[in-house]
Amino acid sequence: MVLSLHSLTTILVAIFVVTAVYMISGRRQHFFEGVSTMSRTTVKSTNNETIMKGYNETTLNGNSELTPLPSCDLFSGKWVYDNSTIPLYSSKQCSFLIGEFACEKFGRKDLSYQKWRWQPNQCDLPRFNAKALLERLRGKRMVFVGDSINTNQWVSMICMVESVIPSALKSVHVNGSLTTFKAIEFNATIEFYWAPLMVESNSDNPVYHRVPHRIVRAGAIEKHTIHWSDADILIFDSYLWWRVAELQVLYGSFEKPNEGIYKDLGMVGNFEVALKTWSDWLENHINRTKTQLFFNSISPTHHWAGEWGKKKEGNCYSETEPILQEHYWGQQTNPDIMKAVESTVNKLKVRGVDVKILNITQLSEYRKEGHPSIYRKQWDTLTPKQLSNPASYSDCTHWCLPGVPDTWNQLLYAYLLP
Ligand SMILES: *[C@@H]1O[C@H](CO)[C@@H](O)[C@H](O)[C@H]1NC(C)=O
Ligand SMILES: *[C@@H]1O[C@H](CO)[C@@H](O)[C@H](O)[C@H]1NC(C)=O
Ligand SMILES: *[C@@H]1O[C@H](CO)[C@@H](O)[C@H](O)[C@H]1NC(C)=O
Ligand SMILES: *[C@@H]1O[C@H](CO)[C@@H](O)[C@H](O)[C@H]1NC(C)=O
Ligand SMILES: *[C@@H]1O[C@H](CO)[C@@H](O)[C@H](O)[C@H]1NC(C)=O
Ligand SMILES: *[C@@H]1O[C@H](CO)[C@@H](O)[C@H](O)[C@H]1NC(C)=O
Ligand SMILES: *[C@@H]1O[C@H](CO)[C@@H](O)[C@H](O)[C@H]1NC(C)=O
Repeated sequence: MVLSLHSLTTILVAIFVVTAVYMISGRRQHFFEGVSTMSRTTVKSTNNETIMKGYNETTLNGNSELTPLPSCDLFSGKWVYDNSTIPLYSSKQCSFLIGEFACEKFGRKDLSYQKWRWQPNQCDLPRFNAKALLERLRGKRMVFVGDSINTNQWVSMICMVESVIPSALKSVHVNGSLTTFKAIEFNATIEFYWAPLMVESNSDNPVYHRVPHRIVRAGAIEKHTIHWSDADILIFDSYLWWRVAELQVLYGSFEKPNEGIYKDLGMVGNFEVALKTWSDWLENHINRTKTQLFFNSISPTHHWAGEWGKKKEGNCYSETEPILQEHYWGQQTNPDIMKAVESTVNKLKVRGVDVKILNITQLSEYRKEGHPSIYRKQWDTLTPKQLSNPASYSDCTHWCLPGVPDTWNQLLYAYLLP
């Protein structure tokens, strides 16, 4: 079915979850050794404008070409205020921007959160070119698989490309857990698939998933993978849904709930069971020459203003500037989860499956002002008590668009169009 924007919004909104805040232990420090690096082949350039720091200019066949320096860590850098080259789209023009992320539409007046550009230390991010990306995606499927943070990134991606497509040549279809944006002329799709806990779980219903006691099934992921096993590009994320007081791993089936064995191995232990299921599946089923794989590191939340030196009761509400303290790391971002992903990805690499980690955590940590807070569509009627205390119903989990997820997509772009 082809849906109007209204019904798209109605359906999509249902898949969002207001993430409750749970106390989790965390350390304020850097915990990974080494630097993540990427190398690129060549970037063609015809004028000085596109020449980028980090590339070595040489002249080949009369064309000026840029040869990249061997590596550049795109994820170490700083935010630079830039009101000329970003945002990459206008919130008013993107017809696919849903209420959860439409901060401007929902009354946010300070718009500087749209104007911070990520500047890596050793090089520049490639300039985003929507047509080039669509050309790259011609005849291909790109699927974001995960929770509402990945929805956030998926919507951002659509907003980044849709302005170059005439309205008759783009559409969105919703089919259960899979929502598909189609760029018809390019025979390309950019899709989102709801699987907040990676593996099969009792939270898989794209609409009714606010289950108080979460259960995931060890070793069971095929119900999801059949929807995207043939994709050309897959981008996974999973973290927030594990951050709950109670979650059990079921060794058994949902059809025979009384015959299974239930275990709670703690947040990291539970998460590792899912990672193992996910990575075993990739190892055995993914077409290594066809499918490019990415895993997003944790998207940080900003629920406790005390962490950045403000009043303890506060959160992201009323914040208007990024955190400037270098290496700032919030306590809600669990380093052990990142380590678990890294270690799984390293093991996969040894087995010939290459998953790139989009290491968005540190850069997003700085952006305490980038969340919708109260400027988004609300799904429940607010009580007078809530209204009198805006911080109490602020969304400090998702991100305003245009905003931080656009940068994640620019990083993804850097890998897709080297
Ligand atoms: C991700 O970024 C963190 C912080 O910037 C860094 O310490 C870590 O090594 C990076 N991890 C990977 C897998 O690139
Ligand atoms: C490129 O920049 C260099 C140095 O700034 C300048 O000398 C040259 O004329 C420029 N070339 C073009 C094509 O603009
Ligand atoms: C750039 O390329 C030239 C010619 O290949 C080489 O001599 C030079 O060392 C390179 N510079 C860097 C910074 O890699
Ligand atoms: C852009 O930012 C600069 C520096 O903050 C400021 O001087 C200028 O007025 C701004 N321009 C617009 C159009 O906002
Ligand atoms: C469109 O892309 C799909 C893969 O997503 C491919 O199977 C199909 O052959 C393509 N159709 C055309 C007309 O190119
Ligand atoms: C929806 O997805 C199912 C597979 O889950 C498929 O069989 C069906 O044809 C799809 N429906 C539409 C309208 O695309
Ligand atoms: C994997 O993908 C490549 C490129 O699309 C294709 O040529 C090859 O047949 C695929 N292999 C399998 C086993 O499907």
